[in-house]
Amino acid sequence: MKKVFVYLSAFATIVSVVQAATSPSPLRAELLSLIGSPSAHLDTKIRNEFSTKLQAFADTPDVDPSDIIFAIGASVFGIDITTPVKKADGGSVEKPVIVDFDFMKQFMKDVFLTYGCTEDQAEISSEVLIESDKRGIDSHGLGRLKPIYCDRIDKGILWANKPISIIKETETTALVDGNLGLGLYIGPYCMDLAIQKAKKYGVGFVVAQRSTHYGIAGYYSQMAAEAGCVGFSGTNARPSIAPTFGVEPMLGTNPLCFGIPSDEEFPFVIDCATSVNQRGKIERYGREGVSTPRGAVIDNEGIERTDTEGILRDMVLGKCALTPVGGAGDKMGGYKGYGWATTVELLCTAFQSGPFGEEVCGVDRETGKPKPMPLGHFFLAINIESICSLQTFKRNTGNLLRALRGSMKSPKGPGRIYTAGELENEARISRTGQGGMPVPKALQQNMIDLRNQHPNLKEKYGKLPFE
Ligand SMILES: NC(=O)c1ccc[n+]([C@@H]2O[C@H](COP(=O)([O-])OP(=O)(O)OC[C@H]3O[C@@H](n4cnc5c(N)ncnc54)[C@H](O)[C@@H]3O)[C@@H](O)[C@H]2O)c1
Repeated sequence: MKKVFVYLSAFATIVSVVQAATSPSPLRAELLSLIGSPSAHLDTKIRNEFSTKLQAFADTPDVDPSDIIFAIGASVFGIDITTPVKKADGGSVEKPVIVDFDFMKQFMKDVFLTYGCTEDQAEISSEVLIESDKRGIDSHGLGRLKPIYCDRIDKGILWANKPISIIKETETTALVDGNLGLGLYIGPYCMDLAIQKAKKYGVGFVVAQRSTHYGIAGYYSQMAAEAGCVGFSGTNARPSIAPTFGVEPMLGTNPLCFGIPSDEEFPFVIDCATSVNQRGKIERYGREGVSTPRGAVIDNEGIERTDTEGILRDMVLGKCALTPVGGAGDKMGGYKGYGWATTVELLCTAFQSGPFGEEVCGVDRETGKPKPMPLGHFFLAINIESICSLQTFKRNTGNLLRALRGSMKSPKGPGRIYTAGELENEARISRTGQGGMPVPKALQQNMIDLRNQHPNLKEKYGKLPFE
């Protein structure tokens, strides 16, 4: 009873604040009525309608970017429409560039083909990248195309077209060699193999050796969840995390990811690094000009650093390290994140005697030249039907997730409790509603550079959507 009261009173406050900001727009009035009831945000149909209408409202001439309806869309419905930004002169409204997903996937595919991938390799690799953008994980989609994949191919430390070989195989396990080809292609191959084994024998576990950056771990766990399996995947990466009570970057940001099917429109997918922040987040703090939270970064002197600009500079020089989930020291349980990061590094290297730490930093310390970063990954699929009915399992999962989201909310919080995978699902809905993904200036420039470098791309993409 108490929790219902807390929620209703928070909800009433939101509605009255919105109404107070009176606007004659009928579209705005419709949005307001869609917010209508305290459980509207749980109804997929209402959420989708809200998303489409919010986008239409954002496109209205002279819309006020600071209209609280956008904040409500983000906090109550999880629909984060990139609101129009007023130009510095306070004059006309400058809209963000939104590019259609299909166009963007085709562009990325054409880039991979240009770099020498087969049709299959280009199709799958661009699919993994566009999926990150659809889920709102901007750090791992288009944003990685040039700096991580194209530039590394150009540097000769990653190869676009390499065969995948199975080194050792049993009914339930396999060791796969990626031959330093695209991790974006090796990853889906391995998880698909794990799922096939799970469907036949209950469980499939695949380890990849000599792979490269495979993108978002959640892609692989979600693949398994969508096939009726529990999915589990992780990868090691160049050294960034210092051990608890240490200051040297030793472990990758090593995501550890589970995907678990549910009866809802999206599975439970916990997909994150084992560090407090991954590098991309510190770069974002830099772009936003804000400090890095204390405890997320430690330098060689043992000082917990917050000066984002200095951190970015010193990280390149190896003078700063990220801290594991739980933060620096042991007060907030940093040793737990340290343990998880180590677990991932072990599972990625110990089965296949793979390198770690300095050996996967991408630079030869003696010559300063780029060198390959042979990474390891693991993929586990557990066929749920081997243990119980999938339908029952999904219902049980859904019931637990709904109970969590329906539990008592913090009166100081944003008014929502989420479960993992939900925000990514919301991003997909809202981005689909707005007609695609936002492409910031820096990424537009990456696309222009790639297009201008390659005659076939220049011919096909004479004019990009933002030109
Ligand atoms: N390939 C690599 O080397 C590598 C390394 C590190 C990270 N990554 C990827 O980077 C991406 C981002 O990682 P990150 O560490 O920045 O993730 P993050 O800190 O943004 O956390 C994302 C996860 O937390 C969940 N989540 C977020 N807010 C929540 C809330 N309030 N309640 C419940 N769940 C919530 C999300 O649903 C998602 O599962 C991931 O896809 C990860 O796989 C890849």
